[in-house]
Amino acid sequence: HAATGTGVPARASYGAAVRGDALANDPAYAEALAARCRVLVPEGGLKWPVIRPNRETFDFGEADRIAAFAGRRGIGLRGHTLAWYGGMPAWTDAITSRAEAERVLTDHIETVVSRYAGLITSWDVVNEPISDDPSSPKNLRSFVWSRTLGADYIPIAFRAAAAADPTARLVLNEYDVEFVGGRFAQKRDALLRIARDLVDSGAPLHAIGLQAHLPADRSIDRDGLQGFLREIRAMNLDVLVTELDVIDATLPSAVDARDLRVAETARTFLSAVSEVLPPSAILTWGISDRYTWVPMYFTRTDGLPNRPLPLDANMRPKPLMAVIERF
Ligand code: XIL
Repeated sequence: HAATGTGVPARASYGAAVRGDALANDPAYAEALAARCRVLVPEGGLKWPVIRPNRETFDFGEADRIAAFAGRRGIGLRGHTLAWYGGMPAWTDAITSRAEAERVLTDHIETVVSRYAGLITSWDVVNEPISDDPSSPKNLRSFVWSRTLGADYIPIAFRAAAAADPTARLVLNEYDVEFVGGRFAQKRDALLRIARDLVDSGAPLHAIGLQAHLPADRSIDRDGLQGFLREIRAMNLDVLVTELDVIDATLPSAVDARDLRVAETARTFLSAVSEVLPPSAILTWGISDRYTWVPMYFTRTDGLPNRPLPLDANMRPKPLMAVIERF
């Protein structure tokens, strides 16, 4: 974590995930991002289904528009993500041999990372590698790259990213590592094993990304999380909070009390992290309740909109914003 030279630890850079369509059509949203963020990350604009409609072409339209906005406003950029199971385009199902898989994956990473070299200074190289099924081989999620390359897809992806931009910070990103319960402890252990394998083999890993999609009704395992972070620190790795939001699906309707619970949930998590390893950046997955993925998966039963993010739907700051600003 960057020291300021004054004995006062540097604060985390605050940032948010951005939707290209909203950025183009909603000036209040664009202004809120520019006013509050030191770093942006495309929410979907760099994912395979968006930039790889087919094997032959790359479509960088949305990512380029977000990068141009960030450049005009002097805001930094992160990249998300190079190897993830989510929404892989159907054409990748035809990849079955090891050699072909390695070629397609490394070509993709070289093309994307070198295009934004020097602009995107931090990449979620591998996202969500761990299976939620504890019996899966090596705890790996099954998808095209793990099926064809096994666990090797992870170092292959990191080495390709470093080759394409040796200055970028390379991040291993995962969710559900902060809670009380056996399956979360297993996830921490599996993530530590992946990180250690990368470090031991000399692969270029710089940081762990904690997504931190935090259900407000789930307990954070302070000791478990801090033990995990001590191991991360011992490996000389950095930590980022990459996708913070608080899932308020089961909280009572009253808005003021709900906003306080949301802020308190984030505070509990961020203090646990910061006591061991202050994050270099804290990004929320969206900035305003106007644009959030949460209702797609965690709808409220009272019909009221979710309030998971630091600004309300009218771009006014909520208690969650004040909490984040303290870290
Ligand atoms: C989500 C986006 O927010 C949605 O708009 C999209 O449809 C699916 O993906 N973890 C991640 C993100 O790493 O990429 C996911 O983003 C949310 C969970």
